[in-house]
Amino acid sequence: MTAGDGKSSYARNSRIQEKAMVEMKPVLEKVTREVYTALLPRKMVVVDLGCSSGPNTLRFVSEVISIIARRCRLVAQHQNNVELQFFLNDLPANDFNNLFRYFEQFKKLMTRNHKGKALPPFYISGSPGSFYTRLFPSQTVHLFHSSFCLQWRSQAPKGLERAKKSLVDEGDIYITATSSPSIVKLFQKQFQNDFSIFLKLRHEELVLGGQMVLTFVGRKIEDVHSGEPNHFYGLLGQSLRSLVDKGLVEKEKLESFYIPIYSPSVHEVEDVVKQNESFNINHIQLFELNWDPYDDSESDVHDSVQSGTNVANCLRAVMESVVASHFGDTIIDMLFTEYARLVAKHLKKEKTKHAVIVLTMKKVC
Ligand SMILES: C[S@@+](CC[C@H](N)C(=O)[O-])C[C@H]1O[C@@H](n2cnc3c(N)ncnc32)[C@H](O)[C@@H]1O
Repeated sequence: MTAGDGKSSYARNSRIQEKAMVEMKPVLEKVTREVYTALLPRKMVVVDLGCSSGPNTLRFVSEVISIIARRCRLVAQHQNNVELQFFLNDLPANDFNNLFRYFEQFKKLMTRNHKGKALPPFYISGSPGSFYTRLFPSQTVHLFHSSFCLQWRSQAPKGLERAKKSLVDEGDIYITATSSPSIVKLFQKQFQNDFSIFLKLRHEELVLGGQMVLTFVGRKIEDVHSGEPNHFYGLLGQSLRSLVDKGLVEKEKLESFYIPIYSPSVHEVEDVVKQNESFNINHIQLFELNWDPYDDSESDVHDSVQSGTNVANCLRAVMESVVASHFGDTIIDMLFTEYARLVAKHLKKEKTKHAVIVLTMKKVC
C-alpha cells in the first residue's frame, strides 16, 4: 500500500475498505461478544491481519474495545478484569511508523469518547510478517480479524510464464474472458494452497473456542472468466498495454507481470474450509460495494469521469508499489490516468460493483 498520509496514500484512499468495515460491523460485534462471553479470558488477544496503515486500522481496534467495554458493564462482576492485547499484523514493508504515531492520540480519543466510563486496559503492538507464515505462539489468540486482505496471494502463481505461451493470454495480468484453462488452473491452485495454509496456521494459533472474522474481495458468479475482478484488473491490463503501444513499457516486461491476487467465489471458499476440516463456518455472506468508493447510491453512475478518477485513486493506493517495483515508478501517473479514462468509459455503459465475502469461523477441535 502507498505509505504515509499524502494525497495518493492508502491512508487517504481507503474509503471502500471503510465501507466494508461498516457493513460487517454487526458480524464483528456478534463474534467478539461470543468469544468474550464463552471464554471470559483475563487477557484477551486480538489480531488484525493485514492491518495496513490508515484510519481503518484503529477503527477496528476502537470497535473491539467498545464492544468489550459494553459487555463488561453488562456482566458487572467481570468489570475491568479483562485486559486487551492487540497485535496489528502486516508485511514488514507496511508503514508501521505512520501507524504507531497515532497511538497516543488514539488512547486519548478513546477515553474522551467514552466520557469517563471505564474501558478495559488495552495494549497495542505491531507484528510484521506474512500471514502465510506462523506469527504467534500456539493457542494464544482469541480473535483473528482480517479485512480486504485475503484476496492477496502469497505470490503470483509459478509457471504462468510457460502457461502464457498461448497468444490469447499475451498481456493479461489477471484472468480474463479469453484466459486459457492452464492459466486459470494456476491461479486457482495458488488460492487453494494459500488459503489452506492460512487456515492450518491460524488453527494452531487460536485457543479452543477462538474465532475468525474474515472479509475479502470475492466473486459473485461461479464463472471465473467473467466476474467483476476480471473487469477491474482487465482494465489495468489494458492500460499497461496502451503504454506498450506508446513505447513507454517494454512488451516483455508486461508479459512477465501478473498481479498476485485471486478473488474466489463463496463455493470455492467453502470447499477449502471443508477440505481443511479444522474449522466450522458459522456465517458466510456476500455483499456488494460500488466500484466508486464515493458513490453510495443504487442509481446509475452520475459522473463517470469523476467516478473513474475515484476508482483509479483507490486502486493506485493499493497497487502502486507492486506496479512500480516491476515497471519502475516513472509510468505510475500515466498508467492511472489511462486507467481512470478506461474505468469512466466502462462505468458509463455499466455500473459495476465489488463482491465482498464475509466469513466467520470457530475453532472447535
Ligand atoms: C487493502 S489493504 C487492507 C488494509 C486494512 N485491513 C483495511 O481494511 O483498510 C490490504 C493489506 O493486506 C496486506 N497484506 C497482503 N498480503 C499480506 C500477507 N501475506 N501478510 C500480511 N499482510 C498482507 C497488505 O500489505 C495491505 O496492507
